[in-house]
Amino acid sequence: MSSTDKQGALAATIVAGLGLVFVMIVILLAVCQKRFRTGSGTVSSDTRFMTLTMDKFLNDMEREKPIRFTSQQLRIATDNFTNLLGSGGFGSVYKGIFSNGTLVAVKILYGNSDKRIDEQFMAEVSTIGRVHHLNLVRLFGFCFEENLRALVYEYMGNGSLDMYLFHENKKLGFENLYEIAVGTARGIAYLHEECQQRIIHYDIKPGNILLDAKFLPKVADFGLAKLCNRENTHVTMTGGRGTPGYAAPEMWMPYPITHKCDIYSFGMLLFEILGRRRNLDMRFAESQEWFPMWVWKNFESGELGELTILCGIEAKYRETAERMVKVALLCVQYRPDSRPLMSEVVKMLEGAVEIPTPLNPFQHMLGVTPCPSAPSHPLQTGSSLDSELSTQTVTRSTSIGATPLMRKYEIEIASI
Ligand SMILES: Nc1ncnc2c1ncn2[C@@H]1O[C@H](COP(=O)(O)OP(=O)(O)OP(=O)(O)O)[C@@H](O)[C@H]1O
Ligand SMILES: [Mg+2]
Repeated sequence: MSSTDKQGALAATIVAGLGLVFVMIVILLAVCQKRFRTGSGTVSSDTRFMTLTMDKFLNDMEREKPIRFTSQQLRIATDNFTNLLGSGGFGSVYKGIFSNGTLVAVKILYGNSDKRIDEQFMAEVSTIGRVHHLNLVRLFGFCFEENLRALVYEYMGNGSLDMYLFHENKKLGFENLYEIAVGTARGIAYLHEECQQRIIHYDIKPGNILLDAKFLPKVADFGLAKLCNRENTHVTMTGGRGTPGYAAPEMWMPYPITHKCDIYSFGMLLFEILGRRRNLDMRFAESQEWFPMWVWKNFESGELGELTILCGIEAKYRETAERMVKVALLCVQYRPDSRPLMSEVVKMLEGAVEIPTPLNPFQHMLGVTPCPSAPSHPLQTGSSLDSELSTQTVTRSTSIGATPLMRKYEIEIASI
């Protein structure tokens, strides 16, 4: 090719490129003008805009990264936040739909300058966005604007487990509940044992177990989750967190907190699944008011038959129910290291391994001296626990907020 030909080809390429850019600008202006003319809140006016978004959305989903939505996009998807699914400690959840038909649950976080909310936001986005498991709720994306901070989750058609455990008009059979217990345990086991970095949930409870259209359970809300470097097994926290009734004793004391706090909460959840009642319910006779203690007393005196009858569990499920009782009692052991690993819990629930006989988890409540290394009093000094703390403890400020690893992790996520 002569140099004149080459120049001609180059000029043609430049002209074609400029033409393409011009056409794109015209399309973009047309979209913006249409949106401007028809107002910003209507669903129909933004269909093309949403289509562009959805292309990006699907691309990003393929890359398995959470994507960033604008508040405008979420307003459209949720029809201006009209369909409220429920509210929790950190925000309100609205049902939404994208133009490709994908149903979503958009959690609008309360406030916009609260440090706690920022922390929760970053924790959720950076953890769930990259964690995928059948028994974990998928985070599609998020919105991080001054006037709106939101998380966009996959929509779970059957809501949360508490609705089925504590409400008369919604019931699930024992078999379903057992499957939900095992699925939940699998989800938590994945967080604890299979992620690159261990994820502690901190708030396992029936409200955070969501059910899809087929009642498959998925653990939701990593709002309180913090990444824990596996090398540093302990994290201490000055402030209590979690939910009373489910939070492990060490959560309320300045003692090492490990993934074992989730095992404790799971144990409490398991009691509620067995009893299909809240663990603490004053409507029952005094001896049955606190269900876990009542279960222990039945177990201790070998009267599990009576317990299963009173819980309305059919005879054919008795063996399974007994396994669940034993596992629950093992999970709520006072000493964190006496509690099993979540992967062991899964196997025990499935009947794949023998279940060790649990000791009384509530001994400390009966005025009996707790085991020597149990966290007996927050102000205890000079104990073996202290030396453990000095060598293994990583405080919140060094391990979670400020380690280079965490900083790097959060910055990466925030810049998506
Ligand atoms: N992905 C989802 N799909 C369908 N419904 C959802 C979804 N996420 C939440 N919900 C509904 O919204 C309700 C409120 O959820 P939210 O997480 O805000 O509160 P919570 O779980 O009760 O408390 P917490 O703030 O401690 O997590 C849930 O109980 C559930 O019914
Ligand atoms: Mg929740």
